[in-house]
Amino acid sequence: MQKNIMVELGNRSYPIYIGPDLIYKGYIYTPYISGDKVLIVTNKLIAYYYLERLKNQLREFDVYELILQEGESTKHIATVEKIWSILLIYKFNRSSTIIALGGGVIGDISGFAAASYQRGITFIQMPTTLLAQVDSSVGGKTGVNHFLGKNMIGAFWQPSLVIIDTQTLNTLSHRDISAGIAEVIKYGLIHDIAFFNWLEINMQHIRALNLYELNYIILKSCTIKSKIISEDETEKGKRALLNFGHTFGHAIENDQGYGNWLHGEAISVGMIMSAKISHARGIISDADINRIYDIIISAGLPIYPPLGMMTNKFIYIMRIDKKVLYGNKLRVILLKKIGNAIIDVNISENLLYNLIKNNI
Ligand code: NAD
Ligand code: GLY
Repeated sequence: MQKNIMVELGNRSYPIYIGPDLIYKGYIYTPYISGDKVLIVTNKLIAYYYLERLKNQLREFDVYELILQEGESTKHIATVEKIWSILLIYKFNRSSTIIALGGGVIGDISGFAAASYQRGITFIQMPTTLLAQVDSSVGGKTGVNHFLGKNMIGAFWQPSLVIIDTQTLNTLSHRDISAGIAEVIKYGLIHDIAFFNWLEINMQHIRALNLYELNYIILKSCTIKSKIISEDETEKGKRALLNFGHTFGHAIENDQGYGNWLHGEAISVGMIMSAKISHARGIISDADINRIYDIIISAGLPIYPPLGMMTNKFIYIMRIDKKVLYGNKLRVILLKKIGNAIIDVNISENLLYNLIKNNI
């Protein structure tokens, strides 16, 4: 039942373990803990379900915990300062370890604290949401939001290990399951039509948390992402494809106030918008567009931007997004067809404005 994948990054390579009840299996992860001090960062809800289980496996270490408030608004530099303070007060040193027990919010904040404390300490990801298990725990993007832009402050800092306990998804809300599925659909759209076809057929099994299908999508997503990361760790090229739909999605999250739209929900609308722009540019078929709408609807995800969000707001926020600017040009990820994405740097701001205006 238990599987593992390696993220190949030379002497910074690390394994991803996937399987049920892995939190109970300390013998898998304790060898990756460096030093004798461990800080577990989590939030109230996740602590209620899973913190004791984890602590029970760490009896040989000097364990500290930080239990944060839930939600995207916690992904703020003030929270990182709180982590730094704990690390300093309790004299964590360069050989100490941070464990992130939670979703993408906890993972991104903790990873950034690990990257920046004493110029970098050991970091272990234990993702507990589907979104974090298929995407954010892998690849080393860490950071926080700024009121001017999503994920604008951050660092690349790879974990030493990712432990994906699939059993934790049993306590996750349906809304958060759907949000995670958005990133899974993304992998099919940008990279793998056979996987997309499979997702179309099996969507209801996934949403019902059927173990076989869940394991399969996590394994498949982590495999695709690991391969891309190994080829382009710091997004000089191919990794940008993983941002398909994200530029529009980030604009929605920022416009609506962090946390009001879930990340996966905003990304779904972003993927629809990117697909429609690809269509308007004449590079994707009607049939593919219809399939994209259908799969996003069948995953229980939104297809329309928030009511009243204006075109110029998209453009304004997009211009701040670090991923969008490419010299003077805008960089957008488009689809040639399902399973094949491209990076387009030949799109002017005016053209993009008109495309968005006519397509939302
Ligand atoms: P999240 O971390 O806010 O978690 C969603 C909700 O699920 C929270 O309320 C949390 O308390 C709850 N939760 C977590 N695990 C649970 C469990 N097992 N049972 C019950 N409830 C549980 O959101 P998310 O969707 O996991 O992550 C979104 C964040 O990830 C965004 O900030 C996004 O920018 C970031 N992200 C980062 C990357 C990356 O590469 N670093 C990639 C994609 C997304
Ligand atoms: N989620 C996009 C990336 O990791 O590059």
